[in-house]
Amino acid sequence: MKIKTKSKKVNKAWLNDHVNDPYVKQAARDGYRARAAYKLKEIDETLGLIKPGHLVVDLGSTPGAWSQYVRRRLSPAGAAVGALNGAIIALDLLPMEPIEGVVFIQGDFREDSVLAQLESVVQGRPVDVVVSDMAPNLSGVENVDAARIAHLVELAIEFSQKHLKSEGALVTKVFHGSGYTQLVQLFKDTFRVVKPIKPKSSRDKSSETFLIGIGLKKPAQA
Ligand SMILES: C[S@@+](CC[C@H](N)C(=O)[O-])C[C@H]1O[C@@H](n2cnc3c(N)ncnc32)[C@H](O)[C@@H]1O
Repeated sequence: MKIKTKSKKVNKAWLNDHVNDPYVKQAARDGYRARAAYKLKEIDETLGLIKPGHLVVDLGSTPGAWSQYVRRRLSPAGAAVGALNGAIIALDLLPMEPIEGVVFIQGDFREDSVLAQLESVVQGRPVDVVVSDMAPNLSGVENVDAARIAHLVELAIEFSQKHLKSEGALVTKVFHGSGYTQLVQLFKDTFRVVKPIKPKSSRDKSSETFLIGIGLKKPAQA
């Protein structure tokens, strides 16, 4: 009974925070499916990563706010529909409501067959930016969760190493705690420039942060 009461309280507090969150209100006004859009927006505006003409891969894309943001960045007038100067390929375990101009693949990025599907859509084109907001279901067991998070980040780095342009960039969500230092090192081994960013729209309470790698040390693509 006690646990039930506590979790009800937590849910109520979360709902209260969510309803009063300025980014939730802003997302509704701007037509974004989730407040997450502002995390990528801040990272992009800080580092100038996404440019018209780019090919962008969005890993862990559902419900689609990051793809919506990228779509607008690649539109000549920043529009949500109409002309698109560039290409976006999105992938998620869960279904995603269509976004005009975005190619969507549903599947588990950890599976070889899903990776092969993604690679067949990329068609050997050099990718300009890979963004990954993938987050596993957390078990609450720190070591298990750290390993699951690290695995997704490692796979995103592996994909980037193979498909990014030499000056391309990877944005990934990571979590402070066990495993973080090793992931920073892996980024440093792979990229010429590595920047950690905690966007203002990322809740203070969350240990979530983002690692951005720019420019491959050993490019596989031109
Ligand atoms: C925080 S949400 C992404 C939000 C998204 N960036 C947006 O702006 O709408 C994390 C997503 O990662 C996806 N995900 C987690 N593990 C995955 C995996 N192994 N393969 C593909 N997607 C995965 C989840 O299904 C979930 O939709």
